[in-house]
Amino acid sequence: MLSSAVLLLAAGHLAAAVPAASSSYASRPAVSTVEPSLTAIQSAEATVKPVTPVSNVEGASFKRFYQVWLENIDYQSAMGDPNMAWLASQGITLSNYFATTHPSEPNYCAAAGGDNFGMDNDDFNVVPANVSTIVDLLDTKNISWAEYQEDLPYAGFLGFNYSNQKTYANDYVRKHNPLIFYESITNNSTRVRQIKGFTDFETDLKNQELPQWAFFTPNMTNDAHDTNITFGSKWERSFMAPLLNNSYFMNDTVVLLTFDENETYGIANKVFAILLGGAIPEKLKGTVDNTYYNHYSTIATVSENWGLPSLGRWDCNANVFDIVSSKTGKVNAALNFNDKSVYFNQSYPGPLSDELYSDVWPIPTNSSTCANGRGVLPSIVKTYAGQKASFNYTSPYPYDALTGLDVPSQ
Ligand SMILES: *[C@@H]1O[C@H](CO)[C@@H](O)[C@H](O)[C@H]1NC(C)=O
Ligand SMILES: *[C@@H]1O[C@H](CO)[C@@H](O)[C@H](O)[C@H]1NC(C)=O
Ligand SMILES: *[C@@H]1O[C@H](CO)[C@@H](O)[C@H](O)[C@H]1NC(C)=O
Ligand SMILES: *[C@@H]1O[C@H](CO)[C@@H](O)[C@H](O)[C@H]1NC(C)=O
Ligand SMILES: *[C@@H]1O[C@H](CO)[C@@H](O)[C@H](O)[C@H]1NC(C)=O
Ligand SMILES: *[C@@H]1O[C@H](CO)[C@@H](O)[C@H](O)[C@H]1NC(C)=O
Ligand SMILES: *[C@@H]1O[C@H](CO)[C@@H](O)[C@H](O)[C@H]1NC(C)=O
Ligand SMILES: *[C@@H]1O[C@H](CO)[C@@H](O)[C@H](O)[C@H]1NC(C)=O
Ligand SMILES: *[C@@H]1O[C@H](CO)[C@@H](O)[C@H](O)[C@H]1NC(C)=O
Ligand SMILES: *[C@@H]1O[C@H](CO)[C@@H](O)[C@H](O)[C@H]1NC(C)=O
Ligand SMILES: *[C@@H]1O[C@H](CO)[C@@H](O)[C@H](O)[C@H]1NC(C)=O
Ligand SMILES: *[C@@H]1O[C@H](CO)[C@@H](O)[C@H](O)[C@H]1NC(C)=O
Repeated sequence: MLSSAVLLLAAGHLAAAVPAASSSYASRPAVSTVEPSLTAIQSAEATVKPVTPVSNVEGASFKRFYQVWLENIDYQSAMGDPNMAWLASQGITLSNYFATTHPSEPNYCAAAGGDNFGMDNDDFNVVPANVSTIVDLLDTKNISWAEYQEDLPYAGFLGFNYSNQKTYANDYVRKHNPLIFYESITNNSTRVRQIKGFTDFETDLKNQELPQWAFFTPNMTNDAHDTNITFGSKWERSFMAPLLNNSYFMNDTVVLLTFDENETYGIANKVFAILLGGAIPEKLKGTVDNTYYNHYSTIATVSENWGLPSLGRWDCNANVFDIVSSKTGKVNAALNFNDKSVYFNQSYPGPLSDELYSDVWPIPTNSSTCANGRGVLPSIVKTYAGQKASFNYTSPYPYDALTGLDVPSQ
């Protein structure tokens, strides 16, 4: 439970921007509403064809951007692990990278849509079709994209989980799949089949048909969720090492290795992060970048690299990874949250919040300052025309429910 002081602070902050929180989220299903039977799953496994678009659009710093997220590890534990240290030696360590909240699902959701909509749970959340994602930004230049979810039974599977069918141990879980929450993806039979399994990754790699944007989620054993950092980092090194030797994979590629959230809720939500791949200049290997970043930086970086607009949410003015901003001249905000009481460890009002439920979907900004002056995707501006933004999304720092800060004083 939140303390009453926190609730007052949050309500006070939002009084000006967001309609008052209502007291019920009962209209939102807490559990899965899509459970294909095992026979339906097996039949789909045999028939559903994954979709594999290819493209080769030039960018300021890279031609491919991939992310691999592990689970629930505090910064210090990851930093102290020998296999993580080896991976870090191959690239740039981001020593000031933050998650957006707890638990897992809102962080994955944030990396796709630029907001977590107040989500404070791992439920069967669905984001309506009028909310855009990074896919809509990539589509403006036909930049190919995919997700690779280990143990997904078939491309576009919508169920809550797919467990090991012998042991029933956790494998694929919907809560770690960023694009699956969004109806703008799941209601489109082409797009949804770009959410594929790891075996499809092996195929796409072999056929040299890898997409330019991809998100990788290992299963619940490999991602350290049901194991620990020792196991997860060993898996990650074994996954990455052959790829780092693969000239097709490495060609102009940046891979972000990070974690969805830090493990201890009562401390600031900093996670370990590494950038590596063929697009990382040799002289930067083994270096540390201490710029403040967060999961929204992944969207802002992709947008800045390819000259795309913004979603008008927390990606609007998020800091862009230095490997791109140093080439394009985007000025990043300077701040070290290690010295501030900013936690990013809880929810703010929104339709996916249990603690601070509001029935209003947050309205994005239409600010022309977003995306380093490229503004907001025109279809988003049109959809929300005449409505006032719910938060100060032009701030480079997302709203922190505990402190009420979205623009920390320097
Ligand atoms: C994207 O692809 C569509 C369909 O092939 C094409 O009509 C459109 O011109 C392309 N857009 C860009 C920016 O290349
Ligand atoms: C999903 O997880 C539940 C609980 O562990 C399990 O009983 C069920 O078989 C799983 N569903 C699938 C399709 O694997
Ligand atoms: C997770 O994936 C690995 C292969 O990467 C597999 O060996 C393992 O059985 C999977 N975990 C479970 C619990 O099934
Ligand atoms: C998306 O599909 C779901 C499930 O079929 C349906 O309930 C929903 O109305 C659809 N939404 C839109 C915007 O078409
Ligand atoms: C589905 O997505 C594809 C690719 O992003 C897009 O070209 C198409 O218009 C979408 N279809 C619908 C019905 O929205
Ligand atoms: C992770 O688990 C393994 C096996 O249980 C154990 O040997 C190892 O010490 C653990 N690592 C950490 C960091 O706790
Ligand atoms: C990658 O290449 C390096 C140097 O050539 C070599 O030492 C290493 O064993 C290779 N690793 C894999 C996994 O192939
Ligand atoms: C890297 O990409 C460039 C252009 O996109 C291509 O000419 C070159 O052959 C590629 N190299 C490898 C090793 O795939
Ligand atoms: C977030 O961290 C603060 C400071 O340690 C703590 O007071 C608060 O209870 C935490 N919130 C949650 C939801 O754990
Ligand atoms: C979680 O992140 C904070 C920084 O924000 C860091 O000080 C702390 O060490 C991390 N947690 C642990 C237990 O390492
Ligand atoms: C977006 O969809 C949600 C859910 O259907 C609805 O409540 C909201 O009014 C819509 N917003 C706009 C601007 O159409
Ligand atoms: C929103 O954030 C920007 C950037 O930090 C700041 O300049 C501006 O004053 C803020 N606007 C409001 C209304 O707080």
